[in-house]
Amino acid sequence: MMADSKPRLRPVIAIDGPAGAGKSTLAAYLARRFGFLNLETGAMYRAFALKALQNSAPLDDEAELMELAGSTRIVLQPQQREGNRVLLDGTDVTRRIRDKDVAEAASRVSVHGRVRAWMVGLQRALGAEGGVVMEGRDIGTKVFPDAEVKIFLDAEDVVRSQRRFFQNVASAEASASVGPSQAEVLAGMRERDARDRERASSPLHPARDAVHLDSSSLTLEEVCSQAEALVRSKIAGG
Ligand code: DC
Repeated sequence: MMADSKPRLRPVIAIDGPAGAGKSTLAAYLARRFGFLNLETGAMYRAFALKALQNSAPLDDEAELMELAGSTRIVLQPQQREGNRVLLDGTDVTRRIRDKDVAEAASRVSVHGRVRAWMVGLQRALGAEGGVVMEGRDIGTKVFPDAEVKIFLDAEDVVRSQRRFFQNVASAEASASVGPSQAEVLAGMRERDARDRERASSPLHPARDAVHLDSSSLTLEEVCSQAEALVRSKIAGG
């Protein structure tokens, strides 16, 4: 049960799954279609990981990380078009948190139970009134186990790493830099997947009542339209 069991006025749509499955795109689409706020919880772990890197905090020291958490303020600002603007202690870190060192650090800070408990509290407060599409790894299992709609979006790791690789190529072209190779992206993704799935605290797994969508051989349009139909079927009058 939720700690705060006040009834919500509007639904929560939970989208979970591994990196590169298309969660962010799907979440942004559903948020637009239903007029909901789109909240990327991975960005919160990334912002905290950046804070840890900036402060040279050991990523495996839970007590030290929690001390740092006490002086950390993370704000997610849902945007009209896609994604969230992310503020860390008042500074815009939206771009910086997408870098490889931050992704790696986020995967490491998110294994700690107390870090997760802190994040879950923030996330429940953000979604307390409903009317949100929240995406992450544990939304349907832990953050909002009573979410009205739960989607577990998956895809084969080779497909997910290809998508990430092409996203990286596009952003590297924009910044005239050189990104990691396709094999490096796949290796990094497998390592983070394993950490997400095998950690003791809230490992990545589908909620019992989640609807599975596999995007390996679907187009983006197909994923979005299947998910939209599902949401309409679950939310009366949606
Ligand atoms: O979705 P993402 O790649 O931005 O997530 C960054 C890291 O945060 C990833 O290693 C998994 C972790 N994460 C998590 O443990 N729980 C969430 N709800 C969201 C992300």
